[in-house]
Amino acid sequence: MSRKPSSVVALYPGSFDPITNGHLDLIQRGSRLVDKLIVSVLRNESKEPLFSVEERTDMLREVVQVYPNVEVDSFDGLLVDHAVARGATVLLRGIRAISDYEYELQMALMNRRQRPEIETIFLMANEAYSFISSRIVKEVASLRGNISGLVPPSVEARLQRRLSKIKHRGA
Ligand code: PNS
Repeated sequence: MSRKPSSVVALYPGSFDPITNGHLDLIQRGSRLVDKLIVSVLRNESKEPLFSVEERTDMLREVVQVYPNVEVDSFDGLLVDHAVARGATVLLRGIRAISDYEYELQMALMNRRQRPEIETIFLMANEAYSFISSRIVKEVASLRGNISGLVPPSVEARLQRRLSKIKHRGA
């Protein structure tokens, strides 16, 4: 059995298109449990994101700068390979409801099969945000619904700018 490393680095991976207050809450709580937390954005353009990887990492950096042990990067390929490259021994993920569990379990077990030395840790989402996702926030914002309090204010402004640009292009 391997010993606990002297400094625990965790990786919090995701699409973050864009970051929500649910993600931010997880980052804040996760950062208290480890020495360093790296928030890693998946570079996977096949998902047709609203924001580019650079825009997403910019938005993340803006909001996590208040947490001194949190960094932001991006990755391609296998998540566990990126974790090893960054010296992370923990993967952090959030669970909002039982519906998240099946997908998260599948990923955690596959990641464990690839790299048994890396442990996935789940935090339960804050109940205030357990109903939100980037997808639903984008949908409501695109229909001019109220998303205040669900994403950081800087992200809300960017979302509105991006969506109105798309609307004008489509008009
Ligand atoms: O925020 P998301 O979209 O639910 O995050 C999914 C993510 C990025 C964690 C997952 O798609 C991923 O790890 N992709 C990298 C490819 C990989 O390692 N796949 C095997 C894990 S099952």
